[in-house]
Amino acid sequence: MLSARESKTSSPVAWNVAAEIVSPNPAELERAARLLRAGEVVAMPTETVYGLAAVVFNETALARVFAVKERPTFDPLICHVAVPEDASVGWLSYLAAQQLVDVERLADDARQAVERLTFAFWPGPLTLVLPKQPAVPDLATSGLPTVAIRAPRHPVAQALLRAVGLPLAAPSANRFGRISPTAAEHVMAELGDRIPLILDGGPCQIGIESTVLLVEPEGTLRLLRPGGVTQDEIEGATGQTLTTAEGLAGGTPLPSPGLMASHYAPRKPLELLPKPLGEFSDEELKALVVALPADVHVGVLLAQGDAMAAQARLLAAAEETGRATQFHVISLSPNGDATEAARGLFQSLRSLDARDDVTLLWAELCAGEGLAHAINDRLRKASGSRGT
Ligand code: TXA
Ligand code: MG
Repeated sequence: MLSARESKTSSPVAWNVAAEIVSPNPAELERAARLLRAGEVVAMPTETVYGLAAVVFNETALARVFAVKERPTFDPLICHVAVPEDASVGWLSYLAAQQLVDVERLADDARQAVERLTFAFWPGPLTLVLPKQPAVPDLATSGLPTVAIRAPRHPVAQALLRAVGLPLAAPSANRFGRISPTAAEHVMAELGDRIPLILDGGPCQIGIESTVLLVEPEGTLRLLRPGGVTQDEIEGATGQTLTTAEGLAGGTPLPSPGLMASHYAPRKPLELLPKPLGEFSDEELKALVVALPADVHVGVLLAQGDAMAAQARLLAAAEETGRATQFHVISLSPNGDATEAARGLFQSLRSLDARDDVTLLWAELCAGEGLAHAINDRLRKASGSRGT
C-alpha cells in the first residue's frame, strides 16, 4: 500500500488527508460506499480512466470534487449509473426513475437513438448528454439544462455503484487540465493529499476517456468529445450521421466546456511533430535536432514503430551535428494498433513528463480514423496546439 507522503503532490491548500490505495474487496467497497454516502469523495477505476466519485445528489460532495480537482464550476460532471438489475427495464425508464433524465422532453426519434446507443454501447465508454430532471443539482451540470450520463463497464465501478445505491458524479481523477490517470498510482500522485481512498482496479483497459455525445431533444446527435467509442461505431449503431458541436446554441461560454483547447497538459512543453518520425529524411532529422536549444533533452512519443530504431536515428543525427542532445523514445504501439496506443497514451506521457533528464516532449500524431481521432484530440490539447 502506498501512502500520500510518498507521492509528489504539492498543493496551495493544506488538506490534511492521506489517501490509501486499497484493493476493491467487499469490505473496502463497503467502506468506500459509506464514505460516499457520508458526502466524501473516493477515486474509482473505470475502463476509460480513473474517476473521482461523489454522490450526484449531494451538493456538498460535488463542491468537494471541484475543490479537490481545482476545477472551474463551469465545467460540468459526468454522472455514472449502475446497470439495472432487471434487464427488462429499458435504460430510459430507468434513468427517469433515478431522477436523472427528463424523458418527456425527448421526441420519439431521440428516444429511439438513445435506445439504440444504450443497447449497443452500455455499459461502456459512451457518455450521453440528455435533458435533466430538476433533482440533478446545477452544480453537477454547470447550470446546463442537460446532464451527461454513462454506465461504466469496469466491474469495480459497477460494484461501487451498486453498493452506494445512488448515481455517482465522477470527473477524471486528476487536477484540472492535467493528464488523466489510468492507474491507481497516478491518482495518488495527482490527488493523494486530498482524498481518503483510492480503489485499485489495475490499469485502465481503454486508457482514454469516454466519447461524449449530445442527444438533442428532436434526435440530432452531436459529437462533443471523441473517445472510447468511435464515430463510425455510433453511426453504424444508429444509422445517423453525427453532427459536430459547432453552431450549437448554448447560452454558456462553450457548448461542452471540456472542449477547451488546452487540456491533458504535461508539465513540460509538448510539441507535435509535423509528420511521423519515420517519414523524416536523415537531413530533415538533423535540421530538427539543430533547431533545438543546446540544453534541451527530448522525450519522444511515437504513435507506432520501433522505439530503439528511432532513438538510434535521433542520436546519430545529434552526433553528426555535434550536439549532446539526449532522446528517450516510447512507442505507443510498435504495430500501429490504435487500441494499444490509446491504452498506453496517458501512462507514457506521464512517464516521459516525470523524467528529470527530459525537458521537452515531442509527439507523433496517430494515422487513421476511429480511436486515432480521440488520441490526436488529446495530443493536440496536451500541446496547447503547439507544433514543432
Ligand atoms: O471516461 C470518462 O468520461 C471519465 C470517466 C471517469 O468516466 N470521465 C471524464 O470526466 O472524462 P471529465 O469531467 O474529465 O469530462 C467530462 C466531459 C467534459 O468535457 C464536460 O464538458 C462534458 O463531459 N460534459 C459534462 N456534462 C455536460 C453537459 N451537460 N453538456 C455538455 N458537455 C458536458
Ligand atoms: Mg478530465
